[in-house]
Amino acid sequence: MGKKISIVFHSTCGNNFLIAKEFFKEFKKHNVEVQLLRVKDPNFEEIAEQFAVAAQYKNEILSIEEATVEKLFDSDILIFGSPTYFGNVSGAMKVFMDSFSPHWPEGRFWGKKMFSFTTCANGEGGGDLCLSTMTIFAQHMGMITVPVPGDLVPGESFPAYGLIHYVGDYANIRPSGKIIQGIRAMCERLMKL
Ligand SMILES: Cc1cc2nc3c(=O)[nH]c(=O)nc-3n(C[C@H](O)[C@H](O)[C@H](O)COP(=O)(O)O)c2cc1C
Repeated sequence: MGKKISIVFHSTCGNNFLIAKEFFKEFKKHNVEVQLLRVKDPNFEEIAEQFAVAAQYKNEILSIEEATVEKLFDSDILIFGSPTYFGNVSGAMKVFMDSFSPHWPEGRFWGKKMFSFTTCANGEGGGDLCLSTMTIFAQHMGMITVPVPGDLVPGESFPAYGLIHYVGDYANIRPSGKIIQGIRAMCERLMKL
């Protein structure tokens, strides 16, 4: 039987959504069972009214099925994507991660593979700390975190901890070029696990 992959993201300005969607499209090409789920954000409507960039993908994001922990039970590989907020995951992603707590004593997620990505404003923004939060969460759940290999894309370097895309001060530098290459190459690697 083939692997099942779940991609769970939080996004208000659209960048983590676009990365998650790229992973989804790429896995679909490989004919694996894959689901794309969004983390619930009770403040999304309010944020979209304040920032044009947050309104751009709002309807598309909200059309995606909301994530619950139960929807991940039968997945072999989990991919988590969160914006970096103050050198951490976003509040919405943290609430989602905390909702795993009933299943921690059962060891329900033990042995699953977990890969993570984030976006942040720039290289000084602490994106690797956000990835680290998701890695530590995965370890608490007994999951095996998947690092980025040093030779992922020839001539390009990526953090070992996961993929990071820099969106700039206005969150409007959309994923393209290097990060898309990284996503495609990472899908190939994840398929081999
Ligand atoms: C509350 C808040 C905190 C943020 N903190 C950081 C930060 O610590 N470092 C950084 O580089 N960017 C920070 N940002 C910018 C976000 O990382 C950026 O808006 C996000 O990557 C966009 O992701 P999205 O398009 O998927 O919503 C912050 C943004 C918000 C709203």
